[in-house]
Amino acid sequence: MLDRVKDLHQEIEHYVINSPEQLEQFRMRFISRKGVITELFEGLKHVPQADRRAVGQELNGLKNFAQERFESFSQLVDEQQAASKSVAPVDLTLPSIPNLTGTQHPLTLVRQRIIQIFERIGFNVADGPEIESDWYNFGALNFPDNHPARDMQDTFFVEKASADTDVSSDMLLRTHTSNVQIRLMERQKPPIRSIMPGRVYRNETISARAHCMFHQVEGIYIDRNVGFKDLKDTLYHFVKEMFEPGTLIRFRPSYFPFTEPSAEIDISCQICGGKGCNICKHSGWVEIAGSGMVDPQVIANCGIDPEEYTGFAFGMGIERITQLKYVVNDLRLYTENDVRFLRQFEGL
Ligand code: DAH
Repeated sequence: MLDRVKDLHQEIEHYVINSPEQLEQFRMRFISRKGVITELFEGLKHVPQADRRAVGQELNGLKNFAQERFESFSQLVDEQQAASKSVAPVDLTLPSIPNLTGTQHPLTLVRQRIIQIFERIGFNVADGPEIESDWYNFGALNFPDNHPARDMQDTFFVEKASADTDVSSDMLLRTHTSNVQIRLMERQKPPIRSIMPGRVYRNETISARAHCMFHQVEGIYIDRNVGFKDLKDTLYHFVKEMFEPGTLIRFRPSYFPFTEPSAEIDISCQICGGKGCNICKHSGWVEIAGSGMVDPQVIANCGIDPEEYTGFAFGMGIERITQLKYVVNDLRLYTENDVRFLRQFEGL
């Protein structure tokens, strides 16, 4: 019995504890009621009477020793636990976590730049509805009834919610921002000098070159004695401010139902500098806007006397200008919210 006590004493002495699990193993073996020391106490009754007292003392000594070690081990484990929680290891050589800043969408950047350029020369910003009637989108702008743009193929029509109206509603998603020209001229007396940025919709299959939703900026200037020269001056100024120095501009005769005469505005290709590339279809020129002198009939449709007042208008696509300025070759990039694309406009 005494040998066994000695062995256990040594075992306790050499015991090493590094974790709460090991502490628990120690407790089970030496402290608990099912442990070895309790077992030895139970065996005491088989020890001859004469030795019992001395062996009992040895056993008590062992029990106290185990208890003492258990307490100091517990303290150690507690300290280790606390230390591992409070001081997370910090590696000061690691790169910092990047602080990502939001960016403005490229279309927002370009729209703001366009507004800034025109505001400086006296244009204000106007707004109009995206859900529009046939009259404001087409009729008042001199589109004949059978004009192909009025076809379901090109235009999204909106059904009225009420059950008793027939399905062929004359409400639609505007196909251009020219509707705001009409609304402005109806409610405002000349001089009118406004630009109208906004979203427009066309029934197109989404691809790299077409989208069912895009953005335009419309411009209009109505006053006494406004002539074609004013249109040219204004758009020359815009191109000079918006694009690289040395960009060429040309007016190409065209046709729109609501302007007479009409012109499309081309600039020398920003991508190849006019040498010819895929973007300009190897012509060296890219179209950026439609324009013209507002048709007297359109002015009269809005209750303004076309004998007294004349004016010009223009409309351009914001996606197109952005494509030329930042070389964006796929229209779908604008709406996909891919941060690898958006991040490229950080800080602009
Ligand atoms: N609304 C035309 C379009 O969407 C663009 C346009 C052309 C607007 C000539 C104008 C204009 O104001 O005068 O293609």
